[in-house]
Amino acid sequence: MVENNTSESKKYLEFLKTRRSIRIFKPEPISDDLVFEILDVARFAPSAKNMQPWEFIVMKNKELLKKLSRIHRWAKPVSNAPVAIVVICDKELAPISYQVDCANAAMYIMLAAHALGLGTVWIQTLRNVKEIQKILNIPSSKIPIAIIAMGWPAEKPEPKPRKQLREIVHENLYSTPLT
Ligand SMILES: Cc1cc2nc3c(=O)[nH]c(=O)nc-3n(C[C@H](O)[C@H](O)[C@H](O)COP(=O)(O)O)c2cc1C
Repeated sequence: MVENNTSESKKYLEFLKTRRSIRIFKPEPISDDLVFEILDVARFAPSAKNMQPWEFIVMKNKELLKKLSRIHRWAKPVSNAPVAIVVICDKELAPISYQVDCANAAMYIMLAAHALGLGTVWIQTLRNVKEIQKILNIPSSKIPIAIIAMGWPAEKPEPKPRKQLREIVHENLYSTPLT
């Protein structure tokens, strides 16, 4: 086996660990070029049978952002984000895996934004699918699986606690915890 444990690869691992959900954004806009650079990366997310069942709505309209920020009490960050990306997913194209496929694309968006110094937070949509479809004229076969609020960070949150490896890793059998 060839190990690739260089300082470069350590940097990438650290990059993954330093992403945080950002909920307060500066008012400065994000250029279209940056938004499209991020969505271009999202295209490379893995999906079952490479079906790529995702589409993206780039939202900058303040009135629509306000409406989305009211879908539930944890959606407020959308109201102060200069951009939100709604990840919508074709349930007919990928009936079994559409949620996981599109979650991969959503995660790629968040990581690409992080690489560019932008902050993001995933806003839950799955309890409000019909309401969001109505607000954004989305057909019923396409499910909004995430709203990614995005902007230049105006906060630096502490890392959220994480479970320890020994709590979540098993060896060969579920009944054998990590020693
Ligand atoms: C499926 C999903 C739904 C989430 N929904 C919301 C939400 O509606 N509002 C919110 O402020 N954060 C939401 N989050 C962000 C989580 O609260 C956050 O990822 C978690 O607390 C860990 O913090 P971190 O992202 O800074 O590591 C969601 C995250 C995921 C993956």
